Amino acid sequence: MDRFEYRNGELHCEDVPVRAIADAVGTPVYIYSANTLRDHYRRLVGAFAELSPLICFSVKSLANLHVLKLLAAEGSGFDVVSGGELFRVKSAGGDVRKVVYAGVGKTDAEINAGLAAEIAYFNVESEAEFENLSRLAGAAGKVAHGALRVNPDVDPKTHRYTTTGKKETKFGVDIERAERFFFAYGKDPNVRLDAIHLHIGSPIYSAQPYVEAINKTLALIDRLRKGGYAVNCIDIGGGFAADYGQTGSPTAADYAAEIVPLLRGKGLRIILEPGRTIGCNAGILLTKVLYLKEGGERKFCITDGAMTDLIRPALYDAFHFIWPAKSAIVPQRSAEFVADGAMKMDIVGGVCESSDFLAKERMLPPVQRGDLLAVFSAGAYGFVMSSQYNARPRVAEVLVEGSKWRPIRRRETYDDLIAAEQGL
Ligand SMILES: Cc1ncc(COP(=O)(O)O)c(C=O)c1O
Repeated sequence: MDRFEYRNGELHCEDVPVRAIADAVGTPVYIYSANTLRDHYRRLVGAFAELSPLICFSVKSLANLHVLKLLAAEGSGFDVVSGGELFRVKSAGGDVRKVVYAGVGKTDAEINAGLAAEIAYFNVESEAEFENLSRLAGAAGKVAHGALRVNPDVDPKTHRYTTTGKKETKFGVDIERAERFFFAYGKDPNVRLDAIHLHIGSPIYSAQPYVEAINKTLALIDRLRKGGYAVNCIDIGGGFAADYGQTGSPTAADYAAEIVPLLRGKGLRIILEPGRTIGCNAGILLTKVLYLKEGGERKFCITDGAMTDLIRPALYDAFHFIWPAKSAIVPQRSAEFVADGAMKMDIVGGVCESSDFLAKERMLPPVQRGDLLAVFSAGAYGFVMSSQYNARPRVAEVLVEGSKWRPIRRRETYDDLIAAEQGL
């Protein structure tokens, strides 16, 4: 699954004890394993090899330049949802011709940046956006490629905040409307509408919702082709699960076993937009115990990491396995794992919100002030969602490769907190 393991009672990332990183750069800190990132990317490449897909790593899940650089070197393209993410890809030296750009609220400036970069596809989410894209492409003297984002009305059985492919979401258009969309815009001179984009939600713990969504979409493509529209690409989005230790998640090969047979021989270029499945288990958040406290029946373990550093528990009630970095027991990273002498605790940060927690009612072995805790499976939607709320500088990020490690983002300072407000 990844390269975080306990050796002689100390958590290591690849061959580096995480304590050594904490000693050098302090805590909280995100630590990523370069070889896990590569493995996860390569597993997808291998599993879907028969379709030779373009894999567009979803920048929103883990956007650090050095991670993007590492994946670009593997041949990855990128899925972006803003001009800022496109800028990150460019800054990392990524190939902009392998960029797909989704999002319901693209501004003129963002569209113009995508046109100038000659990205692979604008994943178009509405008629109004298409008309604006066409106008801007015409003005720039460019012919853009458009992929219509379709809601196949499939329930991915995931958190309601990350369900995106049902009829009532703000994303894309439903299948019936998709046909009318092609009738209206399928012959546009400025935007070649020749692809369909899907992204039904995240994380999706079975291949079945993809199968349902792809089958509905293939039927649509068939109808469109019969109507004279040359649809030659399907982007099936992201959403492939990662193992957080609660439910087993399918492997890349499991998804591919169901998806590849549907798409083989269809004369379609295939695009995938994985994020979480690549980054999630490639990263931990390392945090330090500040205080232990009791409140009524509850015991609190107060850490220097907080919702500002990892908001998923507060936002989605997400489970992250948490365990001391120094431990004689090698834990199983699962919600059911209980060690002898463990105590039920809420692991909370120092932010002034009751929703500031990393875990609630979690069985932890005895810990003391100064101990390091590893919050596992935090590589995706971790640092990227961090904030400076409560004027907390954002934390550092570190990349480990074998026995070497290096900072890939410095810890912010108090000066960073006020930099954009000074000299005005
Ligand atoms: C359009 C689109 N593509 C890809 C992804 C990546 O999803 P995941 O990280 O679950 O693979 C997302 C996530 O929200 C998305 O909105």
